[in-house]
Amino acid sequence: MGKEDDRGEEYLFKIVLIGDSAVGKSNLLSRFSRDEFDTNSKATIGVEFQTQLVEIEGKEVKAQIWDTAGQERFRAVTSAYYRGAFGALIVYDITRGDTFESVKRWLQELNTHCDTAVAQMLVGNKCDLEDIRAVSVEEGKALAEEEGLFFMETSALDATNVDKAFEIVIREIF
Ligand code: GTP
Ligand code: MG
Repeated sequence: MGKEDDRGEEYLFKIVLIGDSAVGKSNLLSRFSRDEFDTNSKATIGVEFQTQLVEIEGKEVKAQIWDTAGQERFRAVTSAYYRGAFGALIVYDITRGDTFESVKRWLQELNTHCDTAVAQMLVGNKCDLEDIRAVSVEEGKALAEEEGLFFMETSALDATNVDKAFEIVIREIF
């Protein structure tokens, strides 16, 4: 999904968020699109999306960011979720090793449904919780390098690197 008007001045890019339940996908999206954080956010059911305007190199870019449930039983049709995606953020929680272990499985699903040209960013979220960290920065970096992904640690809670993570992906698509 990439759109350009007659004068080539409008761009629409679909970006998908994936990763285990409760890693913070929905809060990353609400932080990026509305600068909001919800301590009591409920598990996502089905699919939601937000459209956000971003200026890249003087051009207005519309990022349509899709968010779905990490829990299998709450997910909608997988192929429709990935269809037309230009970018993906694969999110884990730095305080839960199991969510990091799941990254390879999410990448497999992504690569089954999208071609490899999709801009991909590995995101270690909740970096504000340094004292209960379970996955080191080095481990995150190493996996990203191995899989050919961008890498960033973020906090949806205190907003660290959230805009940056989305903007790097959008810039790469652009
Ligand atoms: P599903 O919709 O079930 O797939 O989960 P999700 O990945 O969308 O997670 P969600 O954004 O709902 O966040 C889960 C919990 O983690 C919530 O209690 C959030 O408040 C909390 N949370 C999200 N991001 C952060 C963060 O950066 N730091 C901290 N400390 N908590 C966070
Ligand atoms: Mg969610």
